[in-house]
Amino acid sequence: MTETAKPLTMDTIVSLCRRRGFVFPSSEIYGGIGSTYDYGHYGVLTKNNIRSLWFRAMVQERDDIVALDSAIILNPRVWEASGHVAGFTDPLVDCRTCKLRFRADQLDLASCGRKPSKHPGETPDCDLTEPRQFNLMFETHVGALQDESSAAYLRPETAQGIFINFKNVAQLARRKPPFGIAQVGKSFRNEITPGNFLFRLREFEQMEMEYFVPPPEADEWHRYWIEARRRWYLDLGLRDENLRVREHDADERSHYSLATSDLEYLYPIGWQELEGVANRGEYDLTQHTRESGTKLEWIDPDGTRYTPYVIEPAVSIDRIMLAFLCDAYDEEVVGDRERVVLRLHPRVAPVKAAILPLVPRDDGMAGRARALYEELRRYHQVEHDDSGQIGRRYRRQDEIGTPWAFTVDDQTLEDETVTVRDRDSLAQERLPIGGVREWLDDALQQDWSSPHSH
Ligand code: GAP
Repeated sequence: MTETAKPLTMDTIVSLCRRRGFVFPSSEIYGGIGSTYDYGHYGVLTKNNIRSLWFRAMVQERDDIVALDSAIILNPRVWEASGHVAGFTDPLVDCRTCKLRFRADQLDLASCGRKPSKHPGETPDCDLTEPRQFNLMFETHVGALQDESSAAYLRPETAQGIFINFKNVAQLARRKPPFGIAQVGKSFRNEITPGNFLFRLREFEQMEMEYFVPPPEADEWHRYWIEARRRWYLDLGLRDENLRVREHDADERSHYSLATSDLEYLYPIGWQELEGVANRGEYDLTQHTRESGTKLEWIDPDGTRYTPYVIEPAVSIDRIMLAFLCDAYDEEVVGDRERVVLRLHPRVAPVKAAILPLVPRDDGMAGRARALYEELRRYHQVEHDDSGQIGRRYRRQDEIGTPWAFTVDDQTLEDETVTVRDRDSLAQERLPIGGVREWLDDALQQDWSSPHSH
């Protein structure tokens, strides 16, 4: 096998996602809508895996974190109290010449409307306005009236739904700090810097966990969660050399943050935030106590009252998916053929195994392959493919990252064994057909790391 080492571009990932039905531009037949994508079959399966792996690590395998699913449209006072109405803004500039609008702090990432090889402001024709603050929340109206009194927002983060439920959960969940509340759901931001595929979307699925701790323990828990989240990515096969922790300088922290560290991934557009882990202090509980009049505090059995500090790991499934896809993408020459392969962790891969009859028109092979598929699909997401040459079928599975293929062939008819082909090493071995299910269960429990890990 020969590696064909080319620097990975975002276009390569976009085209694979499109070709194999992971992700489509949204509303495409109407010309699309910026920074919004629809997930196809394999995209949905991969997202489901990421969500359930996160939920498993955050809730199922712990006894200190409970789940919540709050509403997307909350009382608008929530967003006044949280500081989003006043402060969830980006500085924007308009170009009077090309009439485009850019983020003032990211001109180096944007292209001039008339000369795309230049950045806005770099040509003599560019005529940029002074920066103005632009709120990123989408506004809507609740009820029959469409005036100021009915204005509401689509949530820009899931976190506030957790803070406003602190009292409900603390009373009912029989947990004491440190304890956490985890939530997964859509968030919405009217992002102005379009492009970069799944990295910056207007509609994305966040996974956030707010961990409430006694204030003196906040620094320690902050460090704990940075490391726990870093480990989660490495255990799911992300390459160590493509992941780093970067602490925010004081001037880049959000209004609520006492300290933030980002887990950054080396995307094709450079090192960028994959996940943020913030120490939000007592900011949110104090703000909602003040604005709602409901005390959001903790009372110890001895009567001591305090407002817990909050440690928050926050990420979107979309950014994780993009990182996993970039990390997994590989091209190599096998024999005289080039293959594209997604080396995804088997637990992340959308399809766990393909079942392929070598000669589909042979009734013996076709029947056995179908029966094996129908058995396996009761337990795992597997695929049966009987169209086209076997080499093409393998390559189709390689491109969607299927870790194993079970092929039913002539020998199966003689001794009831099948071939299992490994996506990464291309090694093949034979297994009794009756043992395939156990073999697959076991293989999915094993550790996995990329053959390209340093
Ligand atoms: N509750 C804190 C919070 O929302 P954030 O840094 O604005 O903090 C947290 O967002 C995470 O949500 C980011 O690290 C990123 O993974 C994801 N995220 C934020 N904006 C996004 C967008 N426009 N598109 C995709 N993911 C986004």
